Amino acid sequence: MVKVEFLIDSKIIGTGLEDSLVAGILIEPLQKMYPGFSDWLLPCLSQIKEGKRVLIGALDDRDLVGVCILKYLKNEGLEINTLFVKLEFRDQKIGIRLYDQVLRHARDRGQHFIDVEVPVADLILTGFFVRRGFTEVSRNWRFGPEYALLRLALT
Ligand SMILES: CC(C)(COP(=O)(O)OP(=O)(O)OC[C@H]1O[C@@H](n2cnc3c(N)ncnc32)[C@H](O)[C@@H]1OP(=O)(O)O)[C@@H](O)C(=O)NCCC(=O)NCCS
Repeated sequence: MVKVEFLIDSKIIGTGLEDSLVAGILIEPLQKMYPGFSDWLLPCLSQIKEGKRVLIGALDDRDLVGVCILKYLKNEGLEINTLFVKLEFRDQKIGIRLYDQVLRHARDRGQHFIDVEVPVADLILTGFFVRRGFTEVSRNWRFGPEYALLRLALT
């Protein structure tokens, strides 16, 4: 049974990329899509420990199988930095359960909006948010002309 919970366990977060279970599931798939991903993730792990970002994890026993990282924005908003479920655990409602915790956190903290940036080409991820009421705010091409990113928001 996969458990979904807020994680502050330093064994899961790790002290560096080598011993971090979060880095362990994210780097290989996401580094290909987002150049510089590991440079972004390293300080992000420290910020999770400092409480500046939030980590929600899906755990299958001790194995981390899904992750959502949140950042607090100015103007009482939350940004979903990463929503990711390990390939072999997909389509088992783990993404939905991670997202439910995001909504709960936003409600508990009185956050007024949620932002996320997704690749236009990832129809599963984009559809996931659009079906949950997110609408387009802007597009950018900072990772190259063939790689459009869509900024979506739920207000
Ligand atoms: C998007 C993602 C988080 C969904 O997680 P999941 O646990 O597989 O999804 P769930 O089982 O909770 O289902 C969520 C929805 O996606 C749909 N879905 C799941 N797998 C799907 C597939 N292969 N094709 C189409 N839709 C699919 C479900 O039907 C469900 O639909 P609903 O929105 O109508 O309820 C997962 O596909 C993923 O991690 N993708 C990669 C995301 C990524 O690159 N993240 C990094 C940048 S943020």
